[in-house]
Amino acid sequence: MPLVHTAALVTEARREGFGLGAFNVITLEHAEAIVAGAEAAGRPVILQISENAVKFHHGRLDVIARASQAVAAGASVPVALHLDHVESEALWRQAAGLGFGSVMVDYSKLPYDENLRLTTGAVEDLQAEGLYVESELGKVGGKEGEAPLSAHAPGARTDPGEAAAYVAATGVDALAVAVGSSHAMTSRDAALDHELIARIAAAVPVPLVLHGSSGVPDEELARAVKGGMVKINIGTALNIAFTGAVRAHLEADPKVVDPRKYIKDARAAMAATVEHFLGVLG
Ligand code: G3H
Ligand code: ZN
Repeated sequence: MPLVHTAALVTEARREGFGLGAFNVITLEHAEAIVAGAEAAGRPVILQISENAVKFHHGRLDVIARASQAVAAGASVPVALHLDHVESEALWRQAAGLGFGSVMVDYSKLPYDENLRLTTGAVEDLQAEGLYVESELGKVGGKEGEAPLSAHAPGARTDPGEAAAYVAATGVDALAVAVGSSHAMTSRDAALDHELIARIAAAVPVPLVLHGSSGVPDEELARAVKGGMVKINIGTALNIAFTGAVRAHLEADPKVVDPRKYIKDARAAMAATVEHFLGVLG
């Protein structure tokens, strides 16, 4: 099945009322595992590559993007490619040429006016190239390299009225909102503000995106989808599965040297995690 456009998957998920899982790719094995998990669940999926993952690959987007594209092209379920949490203009300008259907430009750490100005400019250029654009209003927090911010800090959460004005002014296609989740949580005990989700969903016309979903319990995720969340971003949960499987393998077999032996376990553990989350998202 060929790579599909993000817009098609988001539109379908919104219409049918299921949560569209978007999982972070760091290594080739992440991409393979995400697609394997989606195939096992029989669900479409998004492979997303973040600016931080590109930094890990020595600043090269093309290598991991082309590998992910090839994995997607061999999938038996629809798969889209998304470039995530991008601050660098030089990076988002590469997206159209590398098979991405969407980009999240992330100026959420800047003051509102600056976020609005930079996002509006990016939306214009990216949409002209056929890309679907997501951006963030409010502060989900917890991103690598960021000062810690509580999801409950004053001003961290997205204001529905401001969100409506921001979407109208910027023209973004999807909006990431701060509603109680936080990035990189290794425990699953984030409490979402469902009343706020409902108010934002009623105020803005575009699909909503939940970031930091690894820390959100299953029942909270399912409820968030029912309340209007469409794209559900999951990263850390895969890394917990990956590292846990490698650690278990190395402890059980301290003499192992062939990385295929333990990375195979890591890939299988990530695939099982993806299948589980996609089941939860409906
Ligand atoms: O954009 C990616 C996500 O928000 C992932 O967050 O690693 O906390 O699941 P997470
Ligand atoms: Zn995120």
